[in-house]
Amino acid sequence: MHHPLFIVIEGLDGSGKSTQIDMLRDRFQGQGDACYLTAEPTELPTGKFIRSILRHEITADPRTVAALYAADRIEHLHHPEEGLLAKLAAGYHVIASRYYFSSLAYQSEFADPGWIASLNLYAKRTLVADLTIFLDLEPDLSLERIDKRGETKELFETQEKLTHVRESFHLAFQHFGEGENIRIVDASRDPVTIAEEIWTLVEQLGAR
Ligand code: TYD
Repeated sequence: MHHPLFIVIEGLDGSGKSTQIDMLRDRFQGQGDACYLTAEPTELPTGKFIRSILRHEITADPRTVAALYAADRIEHLHHPEEGLLAKLAAGYHVIASRYYFSSLAYQSEFADPGWIASLNLYAKRTLVADLTIFLDLEPDLSLERIDKRGETKELFETQEKLTHVRESFHLAFQHFGEGENIRIVDASRDPVTIAEEIWTLVEQLGAR
C-alpha cells in the first residue's frame, strides 16, 4: 500500500468496533505497514472532559456536548504529535474509532442536525476518510453484546436510543456523506468474516 490511509470505523456501541480495529491493524502490520489506532472521544483533555460527562460526573447541556465533540475532533485533527494529520504525514495508516458521523448520529436527538453538521464542516473540509466502515447491527443484538461485557451502561445504551442512533447514522451518511467512500457492513456475522470483508474494501483503496 503506498499512501497512508485514513480509515474510520463507525457503529453502535457493542457493534464490534474494537475487535475489527485490532484485526485490521494486524492485517496492516502483517504486510509491514505502520499503523496508528485512535478514537473519539480522544484521550486529550477535550475527550476526557466528554467522558466525565458520559459518566455523569459533570452535567452539561446536550448542545454543549455537541460542541465539545466537535472541539475534541479539531484537537484530534491538529494535535502536533498524536493528531490525525500528524500521524498521516508521518506515514502511518490511521484507523479511527468514530469520527464526525457519530456526532450526527448521537447528537441529533438533542439538537438540530443542520447545526450539528455545521459544527462538523470544519473537520469534513480538513480531512475526509479514505474509507468509512459502518458496522451495522440491530439494536437488540448490540444491547446483548453490551450486557455480556458487563460494563456500566453509558448515556446511549437503551433499545429506543440505539434504534434512533442507527437510523440517524443512515441519514447522516446520505445527507453529510455525499461523495465519500462509506460502506455498510453487516456486523451480526462472525468477526473473521467481517474482517475479511473489511480487508477486501481496504485492498480496493490500494488499487485506486
Ligand atoms: P465509545 O468510546 O466509542 O463507546 P463504545 O466503545 O461504547 O462504542 O464512545 C463513547 C460514547 O460517545 C458513545 O456512546 C458514542 C458517543 N459519541 C457521541 O455521542 N458523539 C460523538 O461525536 C462521538 C465521537 C461519540
